[in-house]
Amino acid sequence: MTSPIPTLSLVDTDPAELAVDAIVIGVHSVNGDGAGGDGGSLLLASGAESIVAAFDGQLTGTLALLGATGAPGEVTKLATLGTITAPVVAAVGLGPEPTGAAPPPETLRRASGASVRALAGTGTVALSLPLPDDEDAPAALRAVAEGALLGAYRFTGYKTKPQPGRRAPVSAVVVHVPDAAEAAAEAEVARAAVVARAVAQTRDWVNTPPNELRPPRFADAVAEAGRAAGLDVEVLDEEALREGGFGGILAVGLGSSAPPRLVRLSYTPAGAGRHVALVGKGITFDTGGFSIKPAQGMWEMKSDMAGAAAVTATMLAVAALRPAVAVTAYVPMAENMASATAYRPGDVVTMRNGKRVEVLNTDAEGRMILGDAMALACENGCDYLFETSTLTGGQVVALGKRVAGVMGTPELCDRVKAAGEQVGEPAWPMPLPEDVRKGMDSDVADISQVNAGMDRAGHMLQGGVFLREFVSDDVSWAHIDIAGPSYHSGEPTGYWAKGGTGVPVRTLLALIDDVAAAG
Ligand code: BES
Ligand code: ZN
Ligand code: MN
Repeated sequence: MTSPIPTLSLVDTDPAELAVDAIVIGVHSVNGDGAGGDGGSLLLASGAESIVAAFDGQLTGTLALLGATGAPGEVTKLATLGTITAPVVAAVGLGPEPTGAAPPPETLRRASGASVRALAGTGTVALSLPLPDDEDAPAALRAVAEGALLGAYRFTGYKTKPQPGRRAPVSAVVVHVPDAAEAAAEAEVARAAVVARAVAQTRDWVNTPPNELRPPRFADAVAEAGRAAGLDVEVLDEEALREGGFGGILAVGLGSSAPPRLVRLSYTPAGAGRHVALVGKGITFDTGGFSIKPAQGMWEMKSDMAGAAAVTATMLAVAALRPAVAVTAYVPMAENMASATAYRPGDVVTMRNGKRVEVLNTDAEGRMILGDAMALACENGCDYLFETSTLTGGQVVALGKRVAGVMGTPELCDRVKAAGEQVGEPAWPMPLPEDVRKGMDSDVADISQVNAGMDRAGHMLQGGVFLREFVSDDVSWAHIDIAGPSYHSGEPTGYWAKGGTGVPVRTLLALIDDVAAAG
């Protein structure tokens, strides 16, 4: 069961006459002493013209009186008392007016999300935000539509009693555009619905408690969703994993009474030129194993399958969007527990590609299951391999909670960065230094799983350097470490609710489009 997303449609009639429950307009902050317009240091954005006219020059001043400043994400609600058809107008802050053009897409996406979230309890919401009328129009419309649908997301949760005062998410979104019948605009709406559903599915899986989503059940859910979408699906259980020599997945799975899985989902359009492989980390809970994690915050490791959820949901969107490129996802799943049967520091594990790994820290479990899955992806053939995982706390230390770390083939890392920038999921290329690899030389096996001296220097990079061992030379690859950006523990902001964010679904979809277009 996926959390519902609102319906989405376009209108091009006068916003002042729309029969909706609320209408959202944009407001810019004006630098200086507030001398602009009719009083406040505010500037209403384009899209608000007919509403401004209906208020007879009083709108800016009234919003300022109510405390509006135009700061990004700020939402000021106003009863319209018959001035326009909608009973409520909500002004969402867009920051300073951009010079010349409309605000950048990510500003619109966040504003759209923040306003729809703030309007929970309202049935139908129309958005009349500043959209450019040039070649940037599709990207702006996409951003407004995605932001609105994602801002309405709410995880159903497990409360046994209805929550008094909890307002229902917005159920219908209407976006005001210059021409609602334009094919390109309609295509953006259709795409936004598919993309938002994929992001919501990712968030749902990430937010599901870990006792409800252990590997066999997660694999069943992924397989069922894949089949329903028309994908080709294969699930390897523990026996098939043993037969296939998936030593890394098996080792991590040993500690749990819920056995590991590897799910393959394939989309193969006729005549596709290129083949993209996706791999996502599916640790349904990460205790650290015998290298156990501190109790503080351990619960957040229910999100250690965010990569798996993102990759699966990306496949569901691919099945609907049908790009001209073959895409196969490999999703390894295991629960990292400590028990009498668990793997231990000192173990040597033979991986799918035959390499032997010395385990030094059972908490570095992600790379063990990913190495096997990446080796299989390369064995089966692919031109590009995108792997994403909540791999290291070092990513959060280096880049923070918003920016993912990218390691791999330099040219492809640059494409990941560009795709992330385009969709509002920032990602930054990181190196794979030789000295880091040297530090992972093992006395007894081909490679240590972490620095042999347990030195945490270059922590994130150790993950990338390790994973490189499981990629064939002829494959362009990128490892996207999403430890920070996949989960939002703060208060809701923009189109992010608390919990799973759905990063990097939209980046992966942009990359697949990129490969389909450019090869
Ligand atoms: N799942 C964690 C990484 C993580 C940390 C994700 C914080 C999200 C937030 C991963 O399996 C892990 O434990 N990594 C260790 C690696 C170390 C043992 C080499 C880490 O980051 O400390
Ligand atoms: Zn982990
Ligand atoms: Mn771990």
